[in-house]
Parts: sequence; structure tokens; C-alpha cells
Amino acid sequence: MIAIITAMDVELETLRARMESPQSVEKPGLSAWIGTLAGHPVIAAVCGVGKVCAAQCTQQIISEYHPSLVLHSGVGGAASPKLNHLDLVVARELTYRDMTDRVKRGCLPFGGVFTADPSLTALLLDQAPEAHLGCIATGDLFVESQEEKERVIRDYGALCVEMEGAAVAHVCAVNQIPFAIVRCISDLADGSAYGDYKQFEKLGSEKSANLLCQVVEKLPL
Ligand code: ADE
Repeated sequence: MIAIITAMDVELETLRARMESPQSVEKPGLSAWIGTLAGHPVIAAVCGVGKVCAAQCTQQIISEYHPSLVLHSGVGGAASPKLNHLDLVVARELTYRDMTDRVKRGCLPFGGVFTADPSLTALLLDQAPEAHLGCIATGDLFVESQEEKERVIRDYGALCVEMEGAAVAHVCAVNQIPFAIVRCISDLADGSAYGDYKQFEKLGSEKSANLLCQVVEKLPL
């Protein structure tokens, strides 16, 4: 089974619409659809916003459904001046942007840097050669100032900021489940971020989910 995780309903909608005979699963800690996508058995879940929701949902799916791989899709803020609205970012690695490096290195598995599966990542880039490959930095705060954006670039060399990816990646890495993560830029993580986010969240969600669908279609049955 393939697990697909998004933070919000709008980010899952395109994927759910493509699923064949989706059945809803609603139970404590899990809001998901089970069905098939391009012939693959799939569980597609909306985890909610932030690191704890993402980690809890990912672990519950892994423990109960034993997926062979986990894919994560959604929108994100640009943490690089090279990126613009609706550009795609594929994670090479993910880290937390609200924990110091010293604590990460000393206390977290993998030093708090979680590397995506190279084959799945290559498949994403095959389908979207224009996508940017790099670091995604996750934290519980929405980034909406030039100052904080510059800090994230300086401290992590990140291309994209969002609020769930590293937590999904962390749980996958601990469970030794291959994962890949894609985000589409909804805003530039600056003073205009919230307005831009509202304007681009639907289109960005669709674009990211469409790329994920293309990758699932390419996976061997
Ligand atoms: N997701 C989309 N835009 C974001 C931003 N600017 N900060 C954090 N998460 C986001």
C-alpha cells in the first residue's frame, strides 16, 4: 500500500478525485480515504497543520497500514529568491527550522536532517524536470516576514518553508519507510505571504498533487 499525506483537505482534493472507489476512514487521529490510485492500493490522509499532527498521523498510518512508501504533497512558502509562485520544490532533505542545530545534532535521530528516498525523488524530477531540488525547512510558525525568511535561508540553505514535511520525514526515517515530498510555492514567505497564500493555495495544491499522481502512475504495480 502507498500512503499519501497532506496537511489540509484542499491539498488532498485532486488526489481523492483521482482515486478509484475511495472509502472514507474517520477515527481518532486519522481522517483518510482508502482506495486505489492508478491501480495501486492507497491510503490518502489529511493530517492537519503542524509538526505534531503530521507526526501522529504518519506514525498511525505506518503502524496500522504498513505502507511500502509514503508520499507527502502540499503548498509551501519560497525561502529562496530564485523561486516564484507555483514553482515546484522536491525535497532532497528536510529539517526543522524551529530547533537549534546543537539540539538537533545532539538529540535527534539522523541529526535532525532527513533525506528523501533517492529513487522516488528521481521519479518526481523525471516527471517535473523544472522542479527545484533542495532542502525543505519545517516549523510550527507560518513564515511571513523578509527577516525570518532570510534567517531560514542563512541557517538552513532551505528553498521552501512549510509546517509538516520534516515531521513526516522524521517518522518515516525512524520506521525505515522510503518517502518523497513535493511542495508547490503558494507565497514568498514575506510580508505578502498570507494574502498570496489565500490566492494560490488551491492552484498550488492541485499542481503538487498532480505531480504526485504522475509519480504513482509510474510506480510498478
Ligand atoms: N505553507 C505555505 N506557505 C507557508 C509559509 N509562508 N510559512 C509556513 N508554511 C507555509
